[in-house]
Amino acid sequence: MMKNTMNKNIKRIATHVLLASSFTMLPVLASAQEKIPSEEIAQARELVKIFGSDLKSVLKTTMGTAGPIKALEVCHVQAGPIADKNSASSTWDIARTSLKVRNENNAPDAFELAVLQQFEQRKAAGESLKTMEYAETVQANGKTLYRYMKPIPTAGLCLACHGSTLADDVSTKINELYPNDTATGFAAGDIRGAFTLQKIKY
Ligand code: HEC
Repeated sequence: MMKNTMNKNIKRIATHVLLASSFTMLPVLASAQEKIPSEEIAQARELVKIFGSDLKSVLKTTMGTAGPIKALEVCHVQAGPIADKNSASSTWDIARTSLKVRNENNAPDAFELAVLQQFEQRKAAGESLKTMEYAETVQANGKTLYRYMKPIPTAGLCLACHGSTLADDVSTKINELYPNDTATGFAAGDIRGAFTLQKIKY
């Protein structure tokens, strides 16, 4: 609980700092910035893998045994706690964000928005999502903050709830749970969003 509140505050501070400075295109692993130690990056990558496979295994199991309506309910209730569990297991705070969110709590801050746009440009230029990532050290309120993001590709499995044509009962359920949903219209291979991680350097 403490940890989450603290991380929300960090997020707000970082946003303010970034909004105040006018940055345009972010360089990959910005060389002018203090580099994030490679063991920290390795930890972030590992955490993304574990968090991603936790989410996918819950999704696959529920979709397979109980169908998309039940899976929607499970995602609705479980996505937050699964992120919290993975954050608690590490010194990084981990979450998901997107240019088109279902849950408004996942809306990107200024830094995340710029990186998500950068990912779209890099994909359009032919770069593979498999190896794509972005890391930067950010100064926020006298503290040094490491930030790391990795794109989440759209797979066939995702289209039942994020595709262009949804079954009527699925779309009714989504509207009920998320009246302001914008996370549909994706095709396989699109960037669905990104994992977003941050930690304070002590
Ligand atoms: C059974 C329906 C369902 C399927 C299938 C599904 N999702 Fe989602 N997705 C959701 C729901 C519900 C949320 C909102 C969760 C929350 O409240 O945090 C969500 C949220 C997300 C988010 C967080 C950003 C946002 O929009 O709030 C990402 C990223 C995401 N899904 C990616 C995927 C990917 C990738 C797949 C396929 C591997 C997938 N989803 C399959 C229902 C689904």
